[in-house]
Amino acid sequence: MPLIKTPEEIKVLKEGGAILSRMLREIRETCVVGVTTEELDALARRRFSEAGGTPSFLGYRISPKDPAYPGALCVSINDEVVHGLAVPPRALEEGDVVGLDIGMWYKGFCTDMATTVIVGEPGTGNREPSAPEEVRRLVADTRESLVRALDVIHAGAWVGDIGAAVEDYLKPKGYGIVKDLVGHGVGHAVHEEPSIPNYREPRAPKVRLETGMVLAIEPMVTLGTWKVKMKPDEWTIVTADGSTAAHFEVTVVVTDAGYDLVTPWPDV
Ligand code: MF3
Ligand code: CO
Repeated sequence: MPLIKTPEEIKVLKEGGAILSRMLREIRETCVVGVTTEELDALARRRFSEAGGTPSFLGYRISPKDPAYPGALCVSINDEVVHGLAVPPRALEEGDVVGLDIGMWYKGFCTDMATTVIVGEPGTGNREPSAPEEVRRLVADTRESLVRALDVIHAGAWVGDIGAAVEDYLKPKGYGIVKDLVGHGVGHAVHEEPSIPNYREPRAPKVRLETGMVLAIEPMVTLGTWKVKMKPDEWTIVTADGSTAAHFEVTVVVTDAGYDLVTPWPDV
């Protein structure tokens, strides 16, 4: 499949992305104390069928020998970086850092996005912060690193400029930037070329961004080191040192002048 999407394909992708963003906003707002991960997944499944879309993660395998992903929504809590499982159910607790990652097939095209929410933060019913300052800063800075990444995107830029922008923003602040997982092309499949590291990777092939490329940009950041490991469930990726992690993701289309959001931010 060509990496460049046509204007008609981009129109459908944006239609799906707008729906997906509304779904993620609702799921995000549902993350209050006592709600279970299974309830969040069930909400996602209901909204998928109402929208006429299907969850792109459900049944997905990273490689043929890997187990199929069992949910419609990845819920990754605290030291879980990505690909956390909604089942068995876990009840959300005050101060939990909850990554919500969701992807949808819609009219033959797929979009991908994620956000991180702190349970019980002001604006969600509480007046006092529910998490330590460094955790709140981690979440805000991870989101901002994605903004910085988007700022360098335009036709003619290099894929490597994206990782450099994330690294330049986060490294001086002392965070760990996860290296084992990367952003990616998206649209005809859950994961397409190119791979998009969130750090400087001199060994990566040099790929130039072109108008019409559709990319999922997704920095994964920790309060500790960059190292991660897989849990015995063969899906959940956790920080190796047990530190808290955050993850934000949007799908964008590259344009001559910059980019267009395919999945609008769910939290503004
Ligand atoms: N957004 C995630 C990613 O790009 C989720 C896909 S993997 C899944 O890695 F299996 F959990 F679906
Ligand atoms: Co992704």
